[in-house]
Amino acid sequence: MKPASMSDYRERARRRLPPMFFEYIDGGSYAEETLRRNVRDLEAIALRQRVMRDMSKVDLSTTLFGQTLSMPLALAPVGMAGMYAARGEVQAARAAAGAGVPFCLSTVGVCSIEEVAAAGTPPWFQLYMLKDRGYMRDLITRAKDAGCPVLVFTVDLPIPGARYRDVRSGFTGLSGLPAAINTLWQGATHPAWSWDLFTQGRPHTLGSVQAAVQGGGRVNDFLAWIARNFDRSVTWKDLDFVREIWDGPIVIKGVLDPDDARDAVRAGAQGLVVSNHGGRQLDGVSSSIAALPRIADAVGGDLEILMDGGIRSGLDVLKALSLGARACLVGRPWAWALGAGGEAMVSRMLGVMRSELTTAMILTGCTTAARANADMLDVAAPQN
Ligand code: FNR
Repeated sequence: MKPASMSDYRERARRRLPPMFFEYIDGGSYAEETLRRNVRDLEAIALRQRVMRDMSKVDLSTTLFGQTLSMPLALAPVGMAGMYAARGEVQAARAAAGAGVPFCLSTVGVCSIEEVAAAGTPPWFQLYMLKDRGYMRDLITRAKDAGCPVLVFTVDLPIPGARYRDVRSGFTGLSGLPAAINTLWQGATHPAWSWDLFTQGRPHTLGSVQAAVQGGGRVNDFLAWIARNFDRSVTWKDLDFVREIWDGPIVIKGVLDPDDARDAVRAGAQGLVVSNHGGRQLDGVSSSIAALPRIADAVGGDLEILMDGGIRSGLDVLKALSLGARACLVGRPWAWALGAGGEAMVSRMLGVMRSELTTAMILTGCTTAARANADMLDVAAPQN
């Protein structure tokens, strides 16, 4: 069966990946209420069907930070994607470049910034603030030198939310993985996955992770490593530190509150991502789509607003655009597609998103994605 909708990519990834990787991608924090809300609240929004308008031409393209995107979508930063397929981040970056959309490389990616950049288009780079500012300085400089056009500064993870699925699956972090996987498969080779796929890489950010993979054993538990090394003392003032090194656009990722959005504007950010980290951080917070209109009202004219969390189709993308987003990011959809079949599947998934968005625009009478607005929504139907 060929994968059609996002749920098919998810199912294929579930069958192909070692369970602990699938659960890591698929899961959220605590009782996963926000994870469900992200999807459910998008589902609850009704589009407004319009007919008999000349829809022979629709324009999906948009511009962001001086870049032209073929459609208003980008691949969100996803940690350790290089474990879902060989050189996973490179494969996904190639698929994104082929589709004319940005790929954002995570701080905790497996492939290096340089490796991803050398494969074609320099990625957007996502930054987590670690306590070691010397290391941060080097990392930001590397992103700049590699030609990354946009820095995405994720601010909603001063401490990791507990992911109970990872506890249950035994996802203990990098040095623990080979043993855990061996136990899991009781020595049998998993049909689609080999430890070599991971170790042939050069994890770029985590010198310590590299040491662990090579037997140094410094990272026994990924989440504990995060808790030890991520900087909880970060404030808006730290943006000045980033600015000293980085002169390109900065996007603050992980804003749900209009007051924080106003602070991001005051701090000089060029964009923000309305996001709850895909329901992986503070469980019980509102869905991203419910937070979006409030934030668009507060700062809509002041910076570019992106949104992620629960986008599972091109129809969802149109809903988010209608409520004030300039573009959406997707996390799990591309991670599932990568696990389902590498670059080809990510390309295919992006093609599905494009065709769904095209259809949604034609059937709502929206000729230009960059001008989607609340007219595309059926306000008579129950909304969030
Ligand atoms: C993430 N996310 C994330 N965000 C970030 O800024 N840096 C990171 O390293 C990661 N890592 C990560 C791993 C996995 C497996 C997932 C699923 C997510 C969050 C991600 O960028 C994005 O905000 C969400 O994935 C969006 O929600 P959806 O599209 O997954 O519903």
